[in-house]
Amino acid sequence: MAASGELLFPRSFLWGTAAAAHQVEGYNTNNDWWDWEQRPGRIRDGSRSGVACDHYRRFRDDFDLLAGLHQNSHRLSIEWSRIEPRPGEYDREAIGHYREVLEALRDRGIEPLVTLHHFTNPAWLVRRGGWEDPAAVDAFARYVRLVVREYGDLVSQWVTVNEPLVYAQLGYFEGLWPPGRRSLRLAGRVIRHLLMAHGRAYHLIHELSPRSGNQVGVAHHVRVFDPYRPGLPFDRWLAALGTYLFNRCLLLTLLDGKLRFPFGRGQYLPEVAGSTDFLGLNYYTRDTVGFQPRQPRLLFGGAFPARGERSLAGWEIYPEGMYRLLKFLQPLGRPVVITENGVADESDELRPRFLLNHLVQLYRAIGEGIPVRGYFHWSSMDNFEWADGLRLRFGLIHVDFETQKRTVKPSGWLYSDVCARGGISVKQIQRYAPEVLKAGHLLPKPLLGPEGALSTEPGA
Ligand code: FCB
Repeated sequence: MAASGELLFPRSFLWGTAAAAHQVEGYNTNNDWWDWEQRPGRIRDGSRSGVACDHYRRFRDDFDLLAGLHQNSHRLSIEWSRIEPRPGEYDREAIGHYREVLEALRDRGIEPLVTLHHFTNPAWLVRRGGWEDPAAVDAFARYVRLVVREYGDLVSQWVTVNEPLVYAQLGYFEGLWPPGRRSLRLAGRVIRHLLMAHGRAYHLIHELSPRSGNQVGVAHHVRVFDPYRPGLPFDRWLAALGTYLFNRCLLLTLLDGKLRFPFGRGQYLPEVAGSTDFLGLNYYTRDTVGFQPRQPRLLFGGAFPARGERSLAGWEIYPEGMYRLLKFLQPLGRPVVITENGVADESDELRPRFLLNHLVQLYRAIGEGIPVRGYFHWSSMDNFEWADGLRLRFGLIHVDFETQKRTVKPSGWLYSDVCARGGISVKQIQRYAPEVLKAGHLLPKPLLGPEGALSTEPGA
């Protein structure tokens, strides 16, 4: 039974943070992002990943910090371009390095969740046509086979591909990320290949890993789409379309293997059918969408004022969206891991409240029977935020990029308390998110005691 005044999460809950190799390691000189960053105008603040957080060398100290902050899990990615610097040529030193990284996590009681593809590609793969070419699927499968053979004894939580839709949208449709293409047709093709690559990886992991009980999924970026003018049928229709295309369509394919419009025309991909053990969800924000006759290109938001507060990235902070999306995806019948959730916030003014409000919504969803297995805050530390460069700070730990000094932010200490307790305390809510207590409807009824005190423990 929980001590009064605590919202305790399930005992086996994974409490962690997430990061990706290129954003933290430094000197990933052999991938497509490195080349992209050197071109003027590609990174908004003109910065480059460079040494980034120097995590490739400092990983032990960084993991000491995470362990000290009571995190029991960490999501990291393996950099393919380090493992296979030239096609078919494997770098033993890099392979040994990631083994040390994974062992270092385990030694500190931190369960690794490994991402196999987090936006970056080896430069050689891109020269051969990258993900436009179906050969990328075979190349990826070769790399995955090696990774599972090398590290299968250390890992049982896997994300194959991070945000396939975002990758295709920004790299192949909007042209803002490498390879800078602008073609809807190409974006569709890339999504197909990424799904096929995911399917191959899913089966390889289950066949080759020596561990039983492997959990394999993708990390899928989900957003709430709400109509700008709920009274206008066209705005409502756009919101429903956005929800379907962005949130649901790809997950349906992972369940039944059928490629739906606009990613395909009903083709069946046998390896993709049933290829997800959990839904990995990256949740950040809501888009307000509506019909804009004078700017048809902006149909899906961008120009509409957000209803709530926005972060430095311009993204609306909308914690209830996490709950709404979990309810919306519940019928898909898979356990969920929140593989990313976080906020760009220079001074850490927004983050403590952001964190608590989202965790309350998560608790609310768990209390209603949704099997959420873990929460990974994005990110452990400030890092290289892709086309936004070093300007956007998402970390619970501040990084001085000149000196590489790490400083735990107030939100980092707050999260540490949550991880240590395995839940949230009413004191924390009173201090950082008092609006939750006022809006009693946000919490499941049995949680509200006589004076609004919260006390029940959902399914331990
Ligand atoms: C997600 C990415 C992650 C990071 C956060 C802010 O879309 O997966 O690498 O950039 O956004």
